[in-house]
Amino acid sequence: PSSVLSDLFGRHHNYLRISVTERCNLRCTYCMPEDGVELTEDSRLLTTPEILRIARLFVQQGVDKIRLTGGEPTVRRDLVELVRGLDALRPLGLQRIAMTTNGIALRRKLPQLREAGMDGLNISLDTRDPRRFELLTRRRGCEQVLRAIAEATALGFEFVKVNVVVMRGQNEDEVPAFVEMTHDEPLDVRFIEYMPFDGNRWAVQKLVGYREMLDRLARLYGDRIEQLPLEANHTARGYRIRGYRGQFGFISSMTRSFCASCNRVRVLADGNLKVCLFGSTEVSLRDIIRAGASDADVIDTIGAAIKRKKRAHAGLDVLSQLPNRPMTTIGG
Ligand code: GTP
Ligand code: 5AD
Ligand code: SF4
Repeated sequence: PSSVLSDLFGRHHNYLRISVTERCNLRCTYCMPEDGVELTEDSRLLTTPEILRIARLFVQQGVDKIRLTGGEPTVRRDLVELVRGLDALRPLGLQRIAMTTNGIALRRKLPQLREAGMDGLNISLDTRDPRRFELLTRRRGCEQVLRAIAEATALGFEFVKVNVVVMRGQNEDEVPAFVEMTHDEPLDVRFIEYMPFDGNRWAVQKLVGYREMLDRLARLYGDRIEQLPLEANHTARGYRIRGYRGQFGFISSMTRSFCASCNRVRVLADGNLKVCLFGSTEVSLRDIIRAGASDADVIDTIGAAIKRKKRAHAGLDVLSQLPNRPMTTIGG
């Protein structure tokens, strides 16, 4: 692979996250500010050909995994076409196409997405209780998400993961019930430490660290809990209950960050390249593309941005002081 996607700390970025829309059909409190966010004008959002061009350049430089995010990616009208366009990049080295979705509008699209080349889905669900779901997301739809999870596993996606953001006093008591979802299904449930973003009401008191969750599960399951080997460039540390079909894990961005093995870069819906989830270092690929940049120019801009990436950004000590955007326009 070329050195364009390598940074000054020896990290190679082979995982591109593309936010395909800023819009969302939920209003999760931990993601979106109460008053919503100011959306970028349509004419300043990347078009599908622009996204596919950028994706191709990244793949040519060594990206082998692309994840679509949002906002909520399923609200983008030509999502399936976009996936088909990405699928066509496989001969250039792309191996995995995945998407992170809230599952609300997913079911109808599942067969088409599978057929278009989507390999796997990460579905966000923070509570299995419909009343709580409404409080957390400011909308209804708990049952639809549960059904989408079941249908996605039945359709044979390579993997289906469930993302649970754990917040003290809101859903931390549901951790064992989510672990039980892995009893019969080959699901991977990931418990995510609550992270601060602009306007998301984060407070350290609401953070539940992974150690606390794990200790609690250890009291329940004892030595039936088995730790799985760490995956390369992991966000989650994996576990399973012996005899269960699925597994679970913890994404410990706050209490035990994983910046040293970070392999991700992001392209946002407005065309900004964001080299870290945190901080406000962004550069507009849209502007240079619309000014007529050649492929080589775009690649230079990407390479220069990655060389400016900092050693570490996540973790309780550094995080909260950095200006950033609301999570909903980053896509995780
Ligand atoms: P896989 O590719 O399946 O491992 O998914 P993922 O964990 O990379 O992505 P997903 O969209 O499912 O995000 C799950 C959680 O991980 C969310 O809370 C994201 O904000 C967080 N996350 C994703 N990438 C990063 C990252 O680079 N740094 C940090 N600190 N958190 C991340
Ligand atoms: N902290 C941790 N995870 C978050 N997500 C959204 N906001 C936060 C936050 N404040 C998760 C979503 C989704 C993924 C993209 O990021 O639940 O699963
Ligand atoms: Fe919730 Fe995702 Fe929408 Fe944020 S972008 S409000 S996490 S569904």
